[in-house]
Amino acid sequence: MRIEVFRTAEDVAAAVAELLITEVQRDPAIVLGLPTGRTPVLSYERLVAKRHRVSFRQVRTFNLDEFVGLGADHPGSYRRFMERHLFAHVDVLPAHIGFLDGAAADTQAECERYERAIAGAGGIGLQLLGIGNNGHIGFNEPAPELAARTHRVVLLPETRRANAADFGGDPDQVPREALSMGMATILHARRIVLLATGAGKAACVQRMAEGSLTTMLPASFLQVHPNVDVLLDEPAAARLGRR
Ligand code: PGA
Repeated sequence: MRIEVFRTAEDVAAAVAELLITEVQRDPAIVLGLPTGRTPVLSYERLVAKRHRVSFRQVRTFNLDEFVGLGADHPGSYRRFMERHLFAHVDVLPAHIGFLDGAAADTQAECERYERAIAGAGGIGLQLLGIGNNGHIGFNEPAPELAARTHRVVLLPETRRANAADFGGDPDQVPREALSMGMATILHARRIVLLATGAGKAACVQRMAEGSLTTMLPASFLQVHPNVDVLLDEPAAARLGRR
């Protein structure tokens, strides 16, 4: 795990935007795994500001997760989030955007379809990740066992609280379940770049990078991946190396 610490969250975002531009220039048909959440918003903003430098016309994308019950048009859906923050502003083709359909009648079949779509695209080349305060990646929540593949998951109360902003600030309005790539889906990406900013992430970042591997901190499994970059601001890095 390569760890790089930047002074501010803006510096992290600038580095992420440069990294994405470089990777897309190197492989214009790259398959990107993309996150939602507060952390990547600044990175998407920076990328959009530099969009004249790169074309996404051949790029394919797969987002990590989506809320169960929310269709692509629901204002709280992650599909809409991505439209607002990235897709509407770059030249990615709608047909190249892979997304879990939270409104699918048969969620099991939808998860299987997603796995096939990712495999059919040749697998994920670069997976961008955030990390939850509880150490989740995607919606792989801490638990005695972790699902390997794309699956339906019950969200923990802290995760629903963390997502309340897009639901009028009320955690009860946040859907109780989501569909998420599994741990193996994520860990099969050829390269992973995890971003974390702010003091609230310092404890889980320390456990992720320096603690034991545990299903109770799903991000700790990134330690076994051979090609992971962790980009942090100083507050998120504050507990590293202090054991
Ligand atoms: P956040 O979420 O960026 O909103 O903190 C991260 C995550 O849950 O993966």
